[in-house]
Amino acid sequence: MSKTVRDYIRSIADFPHEGIVFRDVTTLFADARGFRMAIDQLLHPYAGLSFDKVVGLEARGFILGGAVAHQLSTGFVPIRKKGKLPGAVISEAYQLEYGEAVMEVHDDALRAGERVLIVDDLLATGGTAEAGIKLCRRLGAEVIGCAFVIDLPELGGRKRLEEMDMPVHALCEFDGA
Ligand code: PRP
Ligand code: MG
Repeated sequence: MSKTVRDYIRSIADFPHEGIVFRDVTTLFADARGFRMAIDQLLHPYAGLSFDKVVGLEARGFILGGAVAHQLSTGFVPIRKKGKLPGAVISEAYQLEYGEAVMEVHDDALRAGERVLIVDDLLATGGTAEAGIKLCRRLGAEVIGCAFVIDLPELGGRKRLEEMDMPVHALCEFDGA
């Protein structure tokens, strides 16, 4: 049987904390066949649709989003963690396991009406993606979809995004946190 995208993802026990199994996409990114398969499959549901921008969520969403933007012949827009972008930004706070984090985008990075695809490696609680969607919508862009390599369904991110009327596309699922 030929390998699927899921087969290229390495699982590392007890990282970053004891009891957590970390789903490591560096092994997927490092494999020429696996990386191409992931990019092609991220784009599958959107065949025939047009986009103006691909938005990548820091940090692993940059690697995927850059390749997806190249494939779609669109520009790429980074959504970054607080304090990293040099120009004027808008911000959205979101909950982490412990405390709060903030995502930012340049306030001129998207124009009203632009059609956007958001890309990240992993959907867990959905907090990061929700902040990304809100930032895009605040700039007046239309987010057509959110595409992830991995969904952790037990953490509820898909449901959370679908409640925001956001279609979710994920290439594979893993159990547990
Ligand atoms: C991870 C992952 C997603 C996010 C998913 O990123 O890459 O971006 O968490 O979690 P959520 O659905 O519960 O919000 P992380 O914040 O660890 O940062 P990194 O990508 O910069 O390593
Ligand atoms: Mg991330």
